Amino acid sequence: MKKAKIFTITSVSGGTGKTTTLLNLAATYAVNGKRVLIIDMDLAAGDIAARLDVEFDKDIYHCYEDITNHTFDKIEDYLYSYVDGIDIIPAPKDPRDAGKIDPSFLSFLLSKVTLKYDVILVDSNHLLTKINLVMFDYSDKILYVINNESMNLKGLRTMVAIFEDMESNKMRVILNDSKDPHLGLYSISDIKNITKASIDYRIPKSFYMKHYDHDTMNGHIALISEKKRNKYKRANKVFESMAVALLKED
Ligand SMILES: Nc1ncnc2c1ncn2[C@@H]1O[C@H](COP(=O)(O)OP(=O)(O)OP(=O)(O)O)[C@@H](O)[C@H]1O
Ligand SMILES: [Mg+2]
Repeated sequence: MKKAKIFTITSVSGGTGKTTTLLNLAATYAVNGKRVLIIDMDLAAGDIAARLDVEFDKDIYHCYEDITNHTFDKIEDYLYSYVDGIDIIPAPKDPRDAGKIDPSFLSFLLSKVTLKYDVILVDSNHLLTKINLVMFDYSDKILYVINNESMNLKGLRTMVAIFEDMESNKMRVILNDSKDPHLGLYSISDIKNITKASIDYRIPKSFYMKHYDHDTMNGHIALISEKKRNKYKRANKVFESMAVALLKED
């Protein structure tokens, strides 16, 4: 039996487009027939289920609580379907539950889902919390979504040094030009010089969506629709090649 590949999406500062990138990558995999699980580990602020209009009773904290209290029955009780091929484990409804989850629970959680899916996409925040670091350990790749502005580039440089220090080859960098088309001070070679990172993928400015917040709050992921895949051809190509390349590695 094949185990799912685990990709965790993170960044060096908030609001760079992590969740948007994760959702469109999930859509790309699903459109290509892969079974995808999204784990919303932006524990204090994650809103993927709400964005996608998916109703749920049990979130990731309930799963943790049930395991701890020996009332866990089956993992299906915590999996919510968005569309065929994409399931979600929601972040805590109550942000006060975020800090209560012990990272040691992740190995149990992952053992229950890795054989059910082809790809597990983990959304996170930009903080180096203990639980994020444990999740990094379990991940096949850690995807940094950055914007083209100086604080992001400085932060990424620090992370590149940390990954080098850990002798880890798991970092991949996604330069997101679509979130704010007005950003873009630095050229790719400037960025490489500043960050010492290679830019693995670049989401084009043309993926800027005027009605983004309205559309996502209504439960839509752009690249799940054929019409939008045609409209955002260049971005779709980037997501397609990212999806294939990440699964091919190692
Ligand atoms: N392609 C896009 N087109 C238009 N607006 C975008 C796009 N991507 C992101 N945004 C805007 O940026 C906001 C933040 O995006 P997103 O939630 O994906 O970032 P994030 O890195 O997950 O943020 P956080 O750190 O808060 O979790 C969105 O609510 C939206 O307003
Ligand atoms: Mg987010």
